[in-house]
Amino acid sequence: MEKFIVKGGRRLTGEVTISGAKNAAVALLPAVILSDEPCVLENVPNISDVNISLRILKEMGAEVTMLGKDSYRIDPTRIDKFCVPYETARKMRASYYFLGALLGKFNKARVSMPGGCPLGDRPIDQHLKAFSALGAEYTLSQGMIDLRADKLCGTQIFLDVVSVGATMNAILAAVKAEGLTIIENAAREPHVVDLANFLNSMGANIMGAGTDVIKIRGVNKLYGTNYAVIPDQIEAGTFMIAAAATKGDVLIKNVTPKHLESITKKLEKIGVNIEQYDDSIRVYVDGPLVKTSVKTTPHPGFPTDMQPQIATLLTLAEGTSIVTEGVWEQRFRYVDELRRMGADISVDGKVAVIEGTGKLMGAPVKACDLRAGAALIIAGLAANGITEIEDIFHIERGYDCMEGKLRALGADIEKVNIPDDAAQNNQKKNAV
Ligand code: EPU
Repeated sequence: MEKFIVKGGRRLTGEVTISGAKNAAVALLPAVILSDEPCVLENVPNISDVNISLRILKEMGAEVTMLGKDSYRIDPTRIDKFCVPYETARKMRASYYFLGALLGKFNKARVSMPGGCPLGDRPIDQHLKAFSALGAEYTLSQGMIDLRADKLCGTQIFLDVVSVGATMNAILAAVKAEGLTIIENAAREPHVVDLANFLNSMGANIMGAGTDVIKIRGVNKLYGTNYAVIPDQIEAGTFMIAAAATKGDVLIKNVTPKHLESITKKLEKIGVNIEQYDDSIRVYVDGPLVKTSVKTTPHPGFPTDMQPQIATLLTLAEGTSIVTEGVWEQRFRYVDELRRMGADISVDGKVAVIEGTGKLMGAPVKACDLRAGAALIIAGLAANGITEIEDIFHIERGYDCMEGKLRALGADIEKVNIPDDAAQNNQKKNAV
């Protein structure tokens, strides 16, 4: 087992380069299945969710060749298995994209119910609604989802909730369906647009991605393409907040400033200075941080995947801040860990009230999910003393070498191995 040890109190300064977006890459990799020729994907982040997706593709019969540190050639033409088994699928939420991609290509799919971060109830009813509307039948048994269709036909799909996953799965399943599919109340996240752009570069006919109505005219064949994944909006936002929390001065490179607008606006309200360039953004602090209120909503609102990080920053700001979670049922589980570091936060349902104390203290803590883990790293960087963060496998699901990038900015953070016995003893100590 590994953990991070962070010695807090150092200003982050210098430059950092953002990797490709996790939530785009985990959809683009299964989307390659739809192509009738090999594809090359670039700017693919080196994170465990991507490694699992690549493993699933190989297990199905795809030929995966690493061309460089972040680029892969994937030849899907020999895929002859249509099943994602429990052991691999349960390790990540995004395994559900194999449902849409396999259904779209082969009219059948068998995928285990997905895993992922524990953020409360995570139903997939809207995904199944979209598949059914396109003409597929599904059965759920023993934790597996089976999809079958004689033929997929274009249709109108109204999503009852704005769902990133259901929107992307509907696109994957509809791209080769006969006729016109219209997805209404679609999610508008940058990774939805990236998936549509990727498929269009393969010869698909998808219009309106980035708005709440997406129109897809089915095509018979998709061709090989060479495509670069968009920069990770959430990784960029996390580094923006890490810079702000340490009162640092950081140039964040390989970003799309437009995707960061809601984060930028909130940080400016808190007192953080931001300069935007074509594909980079400078973040620095030269005055006090002040309270604000934040509510997470689907894009273009403030992203839920930045909620734990901004809440952590607000513990360092003057005054009382309110953070409301508008997407997930349970996204405040990290608050107990921040309290161990001296934060004054009370939570009532989906609302957290944060009394900014201006300081945090190092403590042993545990990452309970991916973004919670990122928030604890930020807290550790800003805290007095040493913070030890366990369960960092959550963080490595979605951040490409976070500790290396932070070290290059001057942070004192290292990853150490702890023997499993010691980890279990620590768990017992923490439990009492
Ligand atoms: N929902 C339903 N039914 C469905 C699908 C979703 O009721 O069939 C509800 C969910 O319970 C939730 C809301 O709709 O309340 C939004 O869920 P969504 O489907 O948009 O989430 P997701 O696709 O499962 C992706 C990201 C999450 C991110 C959310 C929201 C991936 C692999 N995951 O999840 O990312 O929080 O969108 O933006 O793309 C993360 O990266 O840390 C992360 C959790």
